[in-house]
Amino acid sequence: MVQPLHIGMIGYGFMGRAHSNAYRKVNNFFDLKYRPVLKAACARDRDKVKAFADTWGYESIETDWRKLVDRKDIDAVDICVPNNLHCEIAMAAAAAGKMILCEKPLAMNAGEGLRMCQAVEQAKVANTVWYNYRRVPAVTLAKKLVDEGRLGRIFHYRANFLQDWTISADLPQGGTALWRLDVAAAGSGVSGDLLAHCIDTAMWLNGPIVSLSAMTETFIKERKHNLTGKVEKVGIDDACALMCRFANGSLGLFESTRYARGHKALYTFEINGEKASIKWDLHDLHRLEYFDHRDEGQTRGWRSIHVTDGEHPYMSRWWVPGLQIGYEHSFVHHVADFLDSLAKGVPCQPDFRNALATQQVLDAILESAKKGTWTEVAR
Ligand SMILES: NC(=O)c1ccc[n+]([C@@H]2O[C@H](COP(=O)([O-])OP(=O)(O)OC[C@H]3O[C@@H](n4cnc5c(N)ncnc54)[C@H](O)[C@@H]3O)[C@@H](O)[C@H]2O)c1
Repeated sequence: MVQPLHIGMIGYGFMGRAHSNAYRKVNNFFDLKYRPVLKAACARDRDKVKAFADTWGYESIETDWRKLVDRKDIDAVDICVPNNLHCEIAMAAAAAGKMILCEKPLAMNAGEGLRMCQAVEQAKVANTVWYNYRRVPAVTLAKKLVDEGRLGRIFHYRANFLQDWTISADLPQGGTALWRLDVAAAGSGVSGDLLAHCIDTAMWLNGPIVSLSAMTETFIKERKHNLTGKVEKVGIDDACALMCRFANGSLGLFESTRYARGHKALYTFEINGEKASIKWDLHDLHRLEYFDHRDEGQTRGWRSIHVTDGEHPYMSRWWVPGLQIGYEHSFVHHVADFLDSLAKGVPCQPDFRNALATQQVLDAILESAKKGTWTEVAR
């Protein structure tokens, strides 16, 4: 018998919608022991959260997240609010014995992240962090190929996440929709927002990053703050370039920026191994490019794998071979894996402890950029 899992959603923005969509779809495509029930949605504005709840089918609303966390009829709390709230909400949810699905980055810094790990481990509550790109089928396939040893010894890992939406100096910081530009709400700029995804995927595919050197830049130094109405110093990094060493001896190069005119969400990565290379591009997310040096010479070359066959990760659950799926499905897969992990009594990766490693790299990036030095990643 399928058992209900009562969800309490905090936040109704971009991720609130992406996750709600995933909860609603998951049991239509995956055979699972649990079924998410959209029990309550929470945000501060009653009318707006009511409209959100009505659209997505939440049974009730709250305007104070503490009330939602304390409710006896909630099994799992989903944290879809700005980064500065993750720690406080997660600590309260763990103390109340709730499972937690927390948006990335885990926290504002590794100190907060560690406290969150200790809280969920002490409370023994299921937990996961929404680094959803792991569950794009082509990226999951990349992981399979790497783990099978098809690339051989890895030499290089390279990734970019490029956007262009903050170039205007007139764009204010802070408040609804623009909290990402306010260091007090976001903790960092592109490093925690965009590079965090690249780092999570990189360490999942290629193992730990042990040391690094980073440079960051804040191109627009002052912006009007929406909450105070004053022009204030900008504390976030607008762009970040990172070079690093992985524990397996390979070298990493990463770039993320919101100042790459023409790019909206260009997340790409490439891995070069002794025997083979792979590359992936979010704009073509259903394809994995693969080059195998062992192929016969005359026809050797990059092949573009259309990741839509039943034998590809997750794809047997969807349509017929040749028909692709998209961005939203990475969240459906994450929910499916979370519910499957619950049924099996195993952690759903990345759990808080796993996501803490990315947070430690993010801290090292900001430290390296500030000091202008090569930095070891603390563990
Ligand atoms: N996994 C991904 O690819 C991905 C993509 C985007 C955002 N994120 C992460 O998701 C989180 C939310 O980002 P978003 O893009 O959805 O933001 P958003 O601005 O679209 O939505 C934020 C929501 O938080 C609510 N909120 C703010 N303060 C609150 C409070 N005190 N109590 C209750 N609700 C409050 C707002 O009303 C809003 O509904 C961030 O941590 C972000 O880094 C992850």
